[in-house]
Amino acid sequence: MIEYTRPYLPDYQKEIINAPERYTITEATTKAGKTVSHIVWCLEEAMKGKAGQNVWWTAPVYSQTEIAYNRLKRFITDPSVFKANESKLTITLANGVVIWFKSAEKPDNLYGEDVIAVVMDEFTRMREDSWYAIRSTLTATKGKAKFIGNVNGINNWGYRLAREAEKGKQDWKYFKITADDAVKAGILDQDEIDDAKRTLPEGVFNELYYGIPNENASNKFCYSFRDAHVGQCKVNQEYPVYLSFDFNYNPICCGIFQNYGGTIYCPELIKLENSNIYSLCKIIKSKYPHHLFIAGGDATGKAHSAMIKDNLNYYKIIQQELGLSISQMKVVKSNPTMEQNQVLVNAIFEHQKVIFDPDHAQPLIFDCKFVQVTNEGKILKTDRNDPAQQADALDTWRYYLNQEHKDFIKLAQVA
Ligand SMILES: Nc1ncnc2c1ncn2[C@@H]1O[C@H](COP(=O)(O)OP(=O)(O)O)[C@@H](O)[C@H]1O
Ligand SMILES: [Mg+2]
Repeated sequence: MIEYTRPYLPDYQKEIINAPERYTITEATTKAGKTVSHIVWCLEEAMKGKAGQNVWWTAPVYSQTEIAYNRLKRFITDPSVFKANESKLTITLANGVVIWFKSAEKPDNLYGEDVIAVVMDEFTRMREDSWYAIRSTLTATKGKAKFIGNVNGINNWGYRLAREAEKGKQDWKYFKITADDAVKAGILDQDEIDDAKRTLPEGVFNELYYGIPNENASNKFCYSFRDAHVGQCKVNQEYPVYLSFDFNYNPICCGIFQNYGGTIYCPELIKLENSNIYSLCKIIKSKYPHHLFIAGGDATGKAHSAMIKDNLNYYKIIQQELGLSISQMKVVKSNPTMEQNQVLVNAIFEHQKVIFDPDHAQPLIFDCKFVQVTNEGKILKTDRNDPAQQADALDTWRYYLNQEHKDFIKLAQVA
């Protein structure tokens, strides 16, 4: 017999894991304790089972599953009551029930036998196929399922399913937890919410902390770009000139950015057709002869490229051609995910003073107005002949922000 005392859970968490309904679906603020409380549920369901039965934890990507696996392992303090298999991410309890931690990336891996309980963590970021597979797996055993996640727009199966459950669907119970609920229960700090409100785009903040869908999430990449972001810019020699490169074969681009007096400026966006990195550097040197450069941009430019001779990469050439010291090279290790990137870009438009020059930064203004994202959140680039789909100027802007202003928001907040 396993000895077990349920840890302390605030009432709103207890209500969800005690619910008698076969299915529960919870739309909750980030950091509400969704994962923690449902790990407790998984363990309790597994303790009620018999040898040969299975309990599943599923999450959209492998890394998230692994986090939950490690949390459950830490949670069971007596090592004699379970066996862990690190390579399979399973935990076998003394009663013979196996708890599996699975990624939902491939729905084919979500068919199985004798599954009595399943958690779908971050279900609004999973494919609908994953839910179909899990549902068919649960049919034979009449197993239970629990959905937990943030609201993530309204154009997804998870949002529709939550609405059905909310209206009252047999065997289902719907829960909603806002940031205020979590603060009242002492799980979330008010300071953290205030900080998120100051820094995140409003639509993203309302969605993450209050479960209000972000309908503002149109298909425009820069949904917070406004006419007020356009105005005359003068290059200020007292401050560094940030060069942010984008290395398409054609055109090759460099965004010129400055940050002083509480404002981020783009005085110029250089875009050259049928040219190369050497000519681009020459132009930069002649236009900005007495300025302190900081160079960066697309992280992939560090790779060796077929376009470039010998053992050089783009950044080595830039360093040589502009005569820069190593401390003037600020290329980031890797480009962030597009989702994090889009949030940062719009957070800056909403909460920082930003000015782009109407004459010399025109390509960037154009991109901010017209570049669109696909339903998967990728920048739409299917037709490079369509100017609205080139997005090179926008690329230089987002690379610059990733490099110099990444800490403006805590990216961990954004999934
Ligand atoms: N019942 C609880 N007991 C102890 N800590 C909790 C509890 N609920 C939440 N927390 C803490 O709050 C933080 C967020 O919890 P987590 O489960 O990751 O939230 P979510 O999955 O909703 O984003 C974690 O640091 C966790 O330890
Ligand atoms: Mg979680």
